[in-house]
Amino acid sequence: MPDNKITTAVFPVAGRGTRFLPATKASPKEMLPIVDKPLIQYAVEEAIAAGAENLVFITGRAKRAIEDHFDSNHELERELDEAGKNDLLKAVQGIVPASATCIYIRQSAPLGLGHAVLCARRVVGDSPFYVHLADDLIDARVPCLKQMREVHERTGASVIGVQRVPADETEKYGVVAVDGFEQRVGRINRIVEKPKPADAPSNLGVVGRYLLSPAIFDMLESTGRGAGGEIQLTDAIAALLSKEQVNAYEFDGVRYDCGSKLGYLKATVDYALNHHSLGGNFADFLIDVADELSKTRKAGNQ
Ligand code: G1P
Repeated sequence: MPDNKITTAVFPVAGRGTRFLPATKASPKEMLPIVDKPLIQYAVEEAIAAGAENLVFITGRAKRAIEDHFDSNHELERELDEAGKNDLLKAVQGIVPASATCIYIRQSAPLGLGHAVLCARRVVGDSPFYVHLADDLIDARVPCLKQMREVHERTGASVIGVQRVPADETEKYGVVAVDGFEQRVGRINRIVEKPKPADAPSNLGVVGRYLLSPAIFDMLESTGRGAGGEIQLTDAIAALLSKEQVNAYEFDGVRYDCGSKLGYLKATVDYALNHHSLGGNFADFLIDVADELSKTRKAGNQ
């Protein structure tokens, strides 16, 4: 890869979010809040913590709310200012630092994640870059992309975020095989998109964090339709393996699959418990709920 400086993050946000319909009929799934911030804001904060300055959103129909969220809203700011609501004013003004630039590219057809990433080619240019899938929320002491940047600085290679997944869930993920792990890092020798458990090369599932060499774009140009009839990023990474080293990184953190209702609810509960002003009251409420539940269960078992 030409240099180590990573200043661009790509956020593919064109997906329909069918699993959350009707909530996502007119609003983007990336705008679903976890307590008081939308998923896409967590994504942007993680990328900025990892040094990103160019934030590239690959958008589609009904995604205007994302652009509005990262734009300033002078009327709202004036109202908050006049009402003396300084904390809220700071919260809406500080969503994106002045040093960052938001770039929006429309993905003209729903051709898959690989196609979405390819749409960013001209903006990314010839430097390594991040790809962040906002559905995968990761709570970590050191933001996940920052951990991956440190791995990249040590190895000079592309880095793919992975975690162990249940053996019967490989069909939900890209799955990798590695030569062996050292300090959470292993060289990938195989990657397959959504294999059946019997065909999976391991139980190491790819989560939505990628630090990619710009060489991926040439691979994507010639990647045909794969799993689900879509142009898969996984297939382009498979092609890259024969040209460059690509490492899997078992990140340190807790990942929530916010593309599923259960994962979304788990994230909401955990983030609410950790919330500075809400956590205590919410914990009291949960304890009451749990007490009631265990009483009902016990009564049901008698
Ligand atoms: C995408 C990728 C898959 C990866 C997953 C992580 O799939 O294609 O390789 O494991 O994200 O969330 P999707 O969940 O968009 O179907």
